[in-house]
This record gives sequence, C-alpha cells and structure tokens, in this order.
Amino acid sequence: MTTRRGFLRSTVFAAGALPFINRLRLPGFRSGSVTKPLVLSTWNFGMPANKEAWKILDAGGKALDAVEAGVKIPEGDPKVTSVGYGGLPDRDGHVTLDACIMDEDFNCGSVAFLEGIMHPISVARLVMEKTPHIMLAGDGALQFALQNGFKKENLLTPEAEKKWKEWTEKNNYIPYEKTNHDTIGMIAIDKAGNLSGAVTTSGLKYKYHGRVGDSPIIGAALYVNNDAGAATATGVGEEVIRICGAHTIVELMANGYSPADACKAAVERIIKIKKDNIKDIQVGFLALNKYGEYGAYAIQNDFEYAVYSETENNILKKSDYSFR
Ligand code: GLY
Repeated sequence: MTTRRGFLRSTVFAAGALPFINRLRLPGFRSGSVTKPLVLSTWNFGMPANKEAWKILDAGGKALDAVEAGVKIPEGDPKVTSVGYGGLPDRDGHVTLDACIMDEDFNCGSVAFLEGIMHPISVARLVMEKTPHIMLAGDGALQFALQNGFKKENLLTPEAEKKWKEWTEKNNYIPYEKTNHDTIGMIAIDKAGNLSGAVTTSGLKYKYHGRVGDSPIIGAALYVNNDAGAATATGVGEEVIRICGAHTIVELMANGYSPADACKAAVERIIKIKKDNIKDIQVGFLALNKYGEYGAYAIQNDFEYAVYSETENNILKKSDYSFR
C-alpha cells in the first residue's frame, strides 16, 4: 500500500510536480527520512577532504562542522594549486582567497579577496557566527581574521611563484583562461538529516588583481535550503554567478527535480547563454537533496567528484553520474 509519506516523496521527485507541491505547501518536504550521513565534494582532492569530514559525520557531529573541517584539508595542502596555501596567484603575484559556508538554518558567512590566511573557510564561519554581516572582503576581512586570532602567513609557495614568474615571461599580462578551475565545494548531510556546505578557492590563476569569483557568493557557488537540498559549484566563476547557479539548482530541487536533473538544467542554462560557445569553459555542479539523493553535471567531461558514506568512498566521473 502506498503510504502518504511514500506518495509525497515519489511525487516530490517527479519533474512537473510543482502545482501539486504548491497546493500541499512546503511541509511535504519534511516527510522524507535520511538514515545515513553523506558527504560530497568536487574533484579528486575531495577524497581526503571527505575523509576528514566523515570523521565528524560518523561520530554524529553536525554537517556544518564536517564541511569546515573537510575543506581545510586542501586549504592547507601546498600541492593543491587552486585552493588556499600553494594556490596560484593573480597576475600581480598575490594569492587572494574566496570562501563561504552555509548551514541548515540559512545562516551563512563569506570572505572575498582575502590575503595571507591559511584557512579562509574558518574566517567565513566566524563572519557568520560573530558579525551581523554575511561577507567581509579584502583588508577588512584580514583585519577581522587577525583580531580573531588568525595569523598572517605567506601563502605563495616557491613552486607557485616559479610558475607565476614563468607565466609573466610568456604572457603579456593577459589573464590566463582555461577550461578548468578546481575549487573545492563540499556539501553534506548529517545523521540528524541537516544539510550544510562550504566552498574555498584561490580563484582563477593569473586573474586581475581584485577579481572575485563565485566562491564567496551565497547563491552562486553554494546554497542550502534544508527543506529541499544543497548545491555547490566549481569552474569559471563568472558563468556560475551569471545564473545564480547553486540557488537555481536548489530551487529546481524544491520544485521536484532530482539532484542530477537540477544540475543538468543549470548547465544547460549556461550553454544557452553562451550560445554553445563553451569549448573553453568548464562549470561543474554538485547537488544533494533532503533525502540523501545526490547527482552532478558539468559542461566538460573531465569533471569528477568524491562521495563518502557508510557504503561508498569513490570518485565519480561524468560517465558515472550523468543520469543518476
Ligand atoms: N570557481 C572559482 C572561481 O571562479 O574563482
């Protein structure tokens, strides 16, 4: 026999169920149940990040704590050249960082154009928890971090400096453009069924000094609505901002799309806007709904993401996830 709960759930996830949902109003979304925690993050450096997040989720901790702890792994890893310490600098040789975090109650915090702080995600969390604001940028963000006990460090590694110098010799100060940019975006659901997410990056390499991407912008690189789902983004931030990527995906999930279909619809919006001129653009989206179902989609085929749960610890490639 179909129970009311089962009926609501299957209806919610059928595309085109919007009029029905509107009649029922949102409490219908609360009827799903999640029994297992789960964490997802972009790219293969998401594997060690997920492992760290999992320790907290498995112990019954909060998704918010898990995503912060998780993304701190690539932030502190000098081998990851697109996040935190070891990140490639802007065209003037400055490593400038963007990060944001969001919890299950629409609380959110972010930092943009921050220099010299190893863990911008933790500064973003403090902005969320200790200020009446959502975003701090540049010198103000640095001042806030220093006042709260963070220490200023040189994040430009000798390897990153060498690459930047080589670039300056070959390129006429023209910002580098390539299909990929490897931000870490992490989204998780905890044992209590609550969602959270975190994003952190050093941004596009050799960008204009002062350029801010999608990563600190709530609704672009990250959005969480605990009644529907969470989504995150990686890739060329300008394209993600243009469509309010993560918010778009969460709204689509709230209106009955599966996570994978919502990600695909967002990618299709970008492709349409760019009039199919997408050869040099990579954008990847990752989404998780209230029921622990997840999916992803990207413009280019080389996008991959990491998933960790009681039953999985994998990297999924586009061929694995397109129709999940
Ligand atoms: N998605 C990262 C950036 O564009 O900076």
